[in-house]
Amino acid sequence: MLRNAWIAVLAVMVASSSDAQTPATTAAPKSATAAPSQATKPVQRADSTPQGKLKNPYSVSDKAIVDSGAQLYSKAACSGCHGGTGGGGICPPLADGVWIYGGDDDTLFRLIAYGSQTLQSKGYSRKAQENVVAPMPAMGEVVATDDDLWRILTFIRAQYHGPPECKFGCPPSGGTGQ
Ligand code: HEC
Repeated sequence: MLRNAWIAVLAVMVASSSDAQTPATTAAPKSATAAPSQATKPVQRADSTPQGKLKNPYSVSDKAIVDSGAQLYSKAACSGCHGGTGGGGICPPLADGVWIYGGDDDTLFRLIAYGSQTLQSKGYSRKAQENVVAPMPAMGEVVATDDDLWRILTFIRAQYHGPPECKFGCPPSGGTGQ
């Protein structure tokens, strides 16, 4: 109960901070100068890519990407709910091999961009549950670009310490995980 109340408070904080940043054109100073073609918002990227086709361009062995992902992860306040290294806090752990909607890149990108309620409205369904069942807020406005979101996901992958066969979703559970 107490935990769910905290999640609600954090979700409101996240939502209001994203409102404050809304002037969408100024949201991503770095990527905007680097290459205009990269400054695609996470939700735009998800909406314009067929289901199952979003793929992380980065590798966990790229330390610079993982480090930048770690910074973006705390900047976007993911850590407030999921803990500093994704080990879970008041919300589910991200690194343990239990994947609530699936562990593939496509599902995780969409979950983070859309939030769990919109994700489910798009036909993705719950396969598991962890220490808490509460909605994951849509972070697609808080995380400025799709590139930033891939970096965050690379950081999350680098924290993984669950069973190797479950890294991208557990194969035998009958899901689409691949
Ligand atoms: C307000 C709290 C909150 C914030 C902030 C938050 N999350 Fe979540 N997240 C949740 C909850 C709650 C769930 C579980 C959703 C469910 O059970 O349907 C979840 C689920 C997830 C999952 C799936 C975990 C699994 O085991 O399958 C990932 C990945 C994730 N969040 C990443 C992120 C990232 C990255 C950020 C920051 C950009 C973030 N979250 C910010 C609350 C939060």
